[in-house]
Amino acid sequence: MPILSLDTYDIHIAPVTETLPPLLERLEFGRLFVLVDENTREHCLPKLREALQDQAFHTIQIQSGEQHKDIGTCQLIWQQLMQQQAGRDALLLNLGGGVIGDMGGFCAGTFKRGIPFVQIPTTLLSQVDASVGGKLGIDFMQVKNSIGLFRDPQAVLIDPTFLLTLPPREVRSGFAEVIKHSLIQEPQQWAQLQQLQELNAADWISLIPDSVRVKERIVAEDPYEKGLRKALNFGHTIGHGIEGEELHSADPLLHGEAIAIGMVCEAWLSHQLLALPEQDLEQISRYILSIYGHRPLAPERYRDYLQLMRNDKKNEGQSINFSLLHAVGQPAINQYCSERLIKESLDFYNQLQ
Ligand SMILES: NC(=O)c1ccc[n+]([C@@H]2O[C@H](COP(=O)([O-])OP(=O)(O)OC[C@H]3O[C@@H](n4cnc5c(N)ncnc54)[C@H](O)[C@@H]3O)[C@@H](O)[C@H]2O)c1
Ligand SMILES: [Zn+2]
Repeated sequence: MPILSLDTYDIHIAPVTETLPPLLERLEFGRLFVLVDENTREHCLPKLREALQDQAFHTIQIQSGEQHKDIGTCQLIWQQLMQQQAGRDALLLNLGGGVIGDMGGFCAGTFKRGIPFVQIPTTLLSQVDASVGGKLGIDFMQVKNSIGLFRDPQAVLIDPTFLLTLPPREVRSGFAEVIKHSLIQEPQQWAQLQQLQELNAADWISLIPDSVRVKERIVAEDPYEKGLRKALNFGHTIGHGIEGEELHSADPLLHGEAIAIGMVCEAWLSHQLLALPEQDLEQISRYILSIYGHRPLAPERYRDYLQLMRNDKKNEGQSINFSLLHAVGQPAINQYCSERLIKESLDFYNQLQ
């Protein structure tokens, strides 16, 4: 049973050994391809192989990491599809995190004007966020996701047991998107999450569906990010600024770790500008620090963070566009604020300990 039936495809949350066989039976396809990186080949492919039973397939392996999410790697993928005589009826299974899903979907969406593909996300971030919403793409000239397209998969198969081999730091990073989804749309899940202190005790089978539903509901209402979909950027305006700048530091932050800091700062802005209650601001800050700890931000870097925020694609002209919260569960899009206030929000984060 799908947990969500969308106009053109279903999202299933169950062991892939249960969800893949009936899907393959239903789809008509020619050659079958599986895209992996070295980690998902080792940790996830054995289970997929079990699900595929005696179905023949060709594995395409690429190197893991955001630095390989580029046109060079796409060429390797297209080459293999070509050499293996993939026709328009070939089917590609993308087995991996957001890098594999975004790039595999992009390669499928463009090869011979588009072949069908299935997303099988194996990181928490890709299960609750990247695999839902139809955005596919790669990085180009240092600009993230600047080449790509919108295209739906045949299905999204989420198997929470893949998370068992994911490094704990990656789990914690993906968890920032779970926190974000609860804050923008699910006050009840936010209340529940705060009971959860140890991520390795998390009941992903019950947490993931609620989180996926938030993303899916928002995307269904606004597929091309004209309005409400921007709510998903809560924490991301300041978070991206910090993530980009800290990339060059000795200890770069993972995406979700930077977004966690961004959510604290943007909750403070929400309190200043939109009357998000003080008690909510305190709860958000306390919970995020309890999960992510505290990483002081050097005030001499504030200018560089702001410079990166000015490049954010949501902006119009010179003003920095924020997605904030009126209250937990009530997002507010297209909010603008002064640079002085943004710096004060960074100060607010810094003085927490
Ligand atoms: N399309 C969208 O809407 C959307 C949304 C959010 C993020 N993204 C994209 O997602 C990407 C980030 O995705 P990510 O955080 O999943 O990173 P990732 O794909 O780089 O995966 C993180 C690491 O975990 C490894 N890995 C994956 N699954 C594993 C498993 N089960 N066991 C052990 N190791 C495993 C990978 O090999 C990699 O080293 C970014 O490129 C971002 O732009 C896209
Ligand atoms: Zn994010």
